[in-house]
Amino acid sequence: MPSIAHDPEHRLWVLSGPGSSYVLHLDDNHRLRGLHWGPRLTLEQAVSLLNYPAPGRRSCEDPADGTLDFDTAGAMRYAHAGVQVRFPDGVRDLETLLVEHERLDHADGSTELVLRFADRHYPLALDTHYRLRPGTDVIERHLVLRHTGTATDGPVTVVRADSATWVLPRLGDYRLGQVRGQWSAETQLNRTPLPYGELVLTSRRGTTSHQANPWAMVDDGTTDEEHGAVWSCALAWSGSWRLTAQRLPTERVTLSAGFGHDPITWELAPGEELTTPLCAGAYTEGGFGAASRLWHRHVLDHVLPHPDELRPVLYNSWEATGFDIGITGQIELAEKAAALGVELFVMDDGWFGARTHDAAGLGDWTPNPDRFPDGLTPLIDRVHELGMQFGLWVEPEMVNPDSDLYRAHPDWVLHHPNRRRTEHRNQLVLNLARPDVIAWLHAQLDELVTKNAIDFLKWDMNRPFTEAGWPDAGTDPDRLWIDHVHNLYAVLDRLRADHPRLRIESCSSGGARLDLGILARTDQAWTSDNTDAVDRLAIQHGFSQLYPARVMGAWVTDSPNPYTGRSVPLDFRFHTAMTGVLGIGGDLNQWSKAELTRAADLVAAYKRVRHLVQLGEQHRLRPPGDGELTAVQFLAPDALECAVIALRCSRHFGQHDPALPLRALDPAARYRDTATGTVHHGAILLSHGLPLDLPPDDHASALVHLIREEN
Ligand code: DGJ
Repeated sequence: MPSIAHDPEHRLWVLSGPGSSYVLHLDDNHRLRGLHWGPRLTLEQAVSLLNYPAPGRRSCEDPADGTLDFDTAGAMRYAHAGVQVRFPDGVRDLETLLVEHERLDHADGSTELVLRFADRHYPLALDTHYRLRPGTDVIERHLVLRHTGTATDGPVTVVRADSATWVLPRLGDYRLGQVRGQWSAETQLNRTPLPYGELVLTSRRGTTSHQANPWAMVDDGTTDEEHGAVWSCALAWSGSWRLTAQRLPTERVTLSAGFGHDPITWELAPGEELTTPLCAGAYTEGGFGAASRLWHRHVLDHVLPHPDELRPVLYNSWEATGFDIGITGQIELAEKAAALGVELFVMDDGWFGARTHDAAGLGDWTPNPDRFPDGLTPLIDRVHELGMQFGLWVEPEMVNPDSDLYRAHPDWVLHHPNRRRTEHRNQLVLNLARPDVIAWLHAQLDELVTKNAIDFLKWDMNRPFTEAGWPDAGTDPDRLWIDHVHNLYAVLDRLRADHPRLRIESCSSGGARLDLGILARTDQAWTSDNTDAVDRLAIQHGFSQLYPARVMGAWVTDSPNPYTGRSVPLDFRFHTAMTGVLGIGGDLNQWSKAELTRAADLVAAYKRVRHLVQLGEQHRLRPPGDGELTAVQFLAPDALECAVIALRCSRHFGQHDPALPLRALDPAARYRDTATGTVHHGAILLSHGLPLDLPPDDHASALVHLIREEN
């Protein structure tokens, strides 16, 4: 069980999970210092840290710089400040006192520490929350700011309210792990030495973004996949965000993350409260692999709405038909998909309004009468008759100027007076901060899923914000950046509550909305529009650093790939997609009989191992780019079976594929290959590895399913 120990005399708190502790100390100036983030400590051991020699005082330095967990701006501190405000009289410094501390025990077994601070003079209360859940070293933190004054006090401008600042211990060196990307090349893993100064990972786009993802992992430069310590944090937010990694010349390092971006502010009115999103953090040992597995477990146990549910094999029509859709073609595809063993048929863009291309119709959420003269019901009924669930694409936050919605409400989009409205993909962003817009949006979707037997929505969002203004908003138009996300979350939560069988996929022009905030209210995420199986290896490797296979949508599409033109065998495409939530997105009308037969076999093979892929422990055996072979092992939590997926793009003449040493098996047990019947000793699989029998050709691949033999 997680524990929170408190030593009132030394004003110290020790927050402990199964393998780690986070220690907080309130100093004589009421500054909250992060004293320890690392291996588990007892209260007595943590108290002894107070006698630990402090670094010598240097001129022009406050030694507290870079050590504050509750990281407020003020006094002689010049380092990064996670909490910055401006009072109505222009004062920017915060001087806070701890007013009380409280421990909350929740019904789910989690426990929470709340430290309540207040400014010494101004009417502002600030509560920092730390929640520990059973069985994990992840600590979830957030901040609440409350204006405790009256109307005469005027608003407090919140310049920055990071959910958490994490204080790292002194290490020999510091390396930062992150993912960078762009459309069709999301989540590319990048590990670089942390430079001195402040490195800001950010999105200013109103969405999580393709370019960066709100998490970071720090190590001392020596950690590898299997060994070493990792300090990591992730923000649960789907709008603009900032994550600042700071390395001071004094070798103090902090990670600080929160919503919003420079220069967005929030006017906190008297009586008003601002709650930040969660920022979760964890210390782990056992390398990057162990850090990833801890995050995967956290997402499965504490983030996803239906974590135990296995995601169905889906078919999506987008790459097959684009905007050229109609009932006959969709039924034809659905019949072919059902024959392959597909369980969820998703009709993508192009079914509504005048949406026969990307320049019209967005916002008009009624079926196109030429394409669906009797509405969606005949298609949905047929899909259900075929034994599949029915899913539908929507992009509710957007509008094409050429739409009935925009003609009726041109003021409903984000816009500034005296400025052009920048269109991207011929569309504008609806202002979800407006109560009338959000009420309309909810009503549209509610009606759609109430009137039609829809099991699944693919919720897309294909462009970032521009001209993010709201001319009638009054004095605080900036808050639309935050309110957009709050209101989006509220609609998703309400739809899910009112339609409990509905499942939702998060999509944003590929993988631009992937974060712990959206995953708390969706069931899976679209990873990337790039479905080229070779490019996918790196994208999926980066995805897996924080997010589990259970949410990683992966389709098998046509060869040559419509985006990259690369030809890759069907098995390789399947095996790549099988390391996540398998989907098919190719034009099945073009697949040969032999391909359809093989595809049905591969779908069946996936179903036999998907409980391991989606709910098991992921061990990255060889990363892509590391030699010629990449491989992942998915292990049942009880280690009774595992699946290994190995992929090799090309092989030099005369070389052989190395055997793959597996992880976390019982050395004393024997494991039987379910396809060949070969029995392997656990000890040999762990030390010498699983021998592979891949053909010599380019793009060779295999799925091996091993089950522990009864003794
Ligand atoms: C972007 C998505 O990523 C695609 O999968 C597809 O749904 C298109 N939008 C449709 O416009």
